[in-house]
Amino acid sequence: MSYIEALAGPFLRRLAPETAHHLALRVLEAGGVGPPGSDPDPILATEVAGVSFRSPLGLAAGFDKDARAVPALRQIGFGHIEIGTVTPRPQPGNPRPRMFRLRAQEALINRLGFPSEGLDAVAARLANRPRDLVVGANVGCNRATADPIVDISEGIIRLGSLVDYVCVNVSSPNTPGLRDLQTGSALDRLLERIRQARREVEDATSRPLPLFLKIAPDLTASQTEDLAERLIRQPVDGLAVSNTTVARPATLTGRYRGEVGGLSGRPLFEPSTRLLAALYRILPRSITLIGIGGVSGATDAWRKIEAGAGLVQLYTGFVYQGTGLIHQIHTGLAKLVRDSGYPSLAAVVGTGSDAIGEARPHA
Ligand SMILES: Cc1cc2nc3c(=O)[nH]c(=O)nc-3n(C[C@H](O)[C@H](O)[C@H](O)COP(=O)(O)O)c2cc1C
Repeated sequence: MSYIEALAGPFLRRLAPETAHHLALRVLEAGGVGPPGSDPDPILATEVAGVSFRSPLGLAAGFDKDARAVPALRQIGFGHIEIGTVTPRPQPGNPRPRMFRLRAQEALINRLGFPSEGLDAVAARLANRPRDLVVGANVGCNRATADPIVDISEGIIRLGSLVDYVCVNVSSPNTPGLRDLQTGSALDRLLERIRQARREVEDATSRPLPLFLKIAPDLTASQTEDLAERLIRQPVDGLAVSNTTVARPATLTGRYRGEVGGLSGRPLFEPSTRLLAALYRILPRSITLIGIGGVSGATDAWRKIEAGAGLVQLYTGFVYQGTGLIHQIHTGLAKLVRDSGYPSLAAVVGTGSDAIGEARPHA
């Protein structure tokens, strides 16, 4: 834990969650993370889509939406940072309150609705970003868009040359209609356009731009099969599984459990890991899976990798446990790899996918 966190942690936890978040981000932006931690154990180094990652563990989208704190987040130890979701034009998002803590479950419910400073402001910040850390840009659409696919393509074209990969977000539950792009002919159209936008960037920069797609954990079994079939025909480099869920497990407690929005944190671990394993079983190995949802320790990260994840991301665990969690996961993961007898982390990917059962409804 950094000295700032030791002083501010208890104070932050008493503030409304969004106020605490903005304050923490300002502190990070001002460089207040303390001395840099040690680099992750080299056994954790991995390569995905031609990009070298110093560890598989990254910060998920939504924490640093406007790319304000990338240098400080690097110092905390993340192997990569996904900034965004960025919308083409600035927008305020939904009315507050729109973020709620479910402390007993280390969970959050949010319905932020993509507050974003927009592509111009974020592109200007990314132009000065540190080059010794993998940074991805997560792109989305404005709420008042005429065509979400046009917005998303604009994001790829504008930010693609400034980052190491782009991730297309079609899974936020808080932007009406967005999740409809995950299946059927809408997905085909999306894949065609985003692959075309990627080609434009690649032609301009003469370097490959890995393209990821981020999906919801709430897909039914038949929707998952439909998505996989279309991805096989028009592949992307990575599939991020998953965003927050609109489901509310019966075991959920706390006064905010009925709030509308996406649920993240521990209750999301099992459903998102099951979907991850199901997709690992049906997708070609050329599509790397990014395991996200409820990771709050090294064992969780390990289970995501066993289920099929080549990379892992977290958000809510970081909010509850603080900066020390990243070093703790790195240390624990390195030990798990060594104890397992596998020669590298990459060799572990998917080794447990068959053992993880299917428990999703058929539509
Ligand atoms: C407050 C909040 C805001 C988020 N904003 C975004 C976003 O802008 N774009 C996105 O793709 N995911 C967003 N997410 C989803 C996270 O990136 C992640 O997929 C999800 O929270 C599951 O991981 P976790 O359980 O480790 O938090 C957000 C999550 C939270 C809690």
